[in-house]
Amino acid sequence: MGTATPGARAPRLAGQTVVLLGGSAGIGLETARLARAEGADVVLVGRDAGRVQQAAAEVGATGSAVFDATDGERLDGFFAQLAGPIDHVLATVGGNYYTRLADVDFAQVHGLVDDHLILPLRLARATREKMRPSGSLLFMGGTGGRRPALGQLVSGALTAAGPALVANLALELAPVRVNLIAAGFVDTPLSARLLGDDLEHRREQLRATLPIGRVVGPADVAALALELMTNTALTGATYDIDGGQQLV
Ligand SMILES: NC(=O)c1ccc[n+]([C@@H]2O[C@H](COP(=O)([O-])OP(=O)(O)OC[C@H]3O[C@@H](n4cnc5c(N)ncnc54)[C@H](OP(=O)(O)O)[C@@H]3O)[C@@H](O)[C@H]2O)c1
Repeated sequence: MGTATPGARAPRLAGQTVVLLGGSAGIGLETARLARAEGADVVLVGRDAGRVQQAAAEVGATGSAVFDATDGERLDGFFAQLAGPIDHVLATVGGNYYTRLADVDFAQVHGLVDDHLILPLRLARATREKMRPSGSLLFMGGTGGRRPALGQLVSGALTAAGPALVANLALELAPVRVNLIAAGFVDTPLSARLLGDDLEHRREQLRATLPIGRVVGPADVAALALELMTNTALTGATYDIDGGQQLV
């Protein structure tokens, strides 16, 4: 006879290792919290030592590191010294860039390409020998840049590249799975920085207009990330999470 408590279920990531590249705030930190709650060992990476230390202590991380994940040598070195096997990596590095053609700052464009195109390629290579076959890589994209609009010149192009990148990486890395989360507005420190004094107004606007009647938070995205990590049928695809923002 089993002794399991009625209604109790096994933690979904017991015995697994999850690396959060960008795990000291926002979506990465929230996913670290959820992964820990589901029994995973988590390793956090960020650029600010204080934030990484605080987040690592809060979630009870197994390990942490402070470096810029777009620095290819540091990234290779980090994964080379990390004890394997690794089950899942979520990269939440990089932001957005709204600009008109006349104002394009090419250094910023290079930075964005590093974050959203070069980093996934480097990460895929750096982790190749260490991933458990049932594991997954997860990247972040957006839904906002799908429709051409003035200001979306750079973001729109990178938004379109994301799904092609994960689909091709999924073939390269199989049986390891690769997926993309495409988010609309998520209420994180990044959004707060971008909006400044307009943050509360934007939240109210979204509550009034989104089909779900509320603002999407980092816990919503973390829940999707967990599903993508644990459902071994999912690979090479892009999963929207925007509360219906692209419909209105
Ligand atoms: N929030 C949204 O509305 C939204 C919508 C669509 C897509 N996204 C995407 O989702 C991802 C996560 O967004 P978020 O809102 O959670 O951002 P966030 O609140 O700014 O958190 C980002 C995390 O990544 C770390 N990080 C950033 N750049 C890094 C780098 N080069 N190397 C190492 N760590 C780095 C940050 O710490 P440090 O700064 O200390 O390094 C922090 O821990 C981003 O790619 C963003 O573009 C966000």
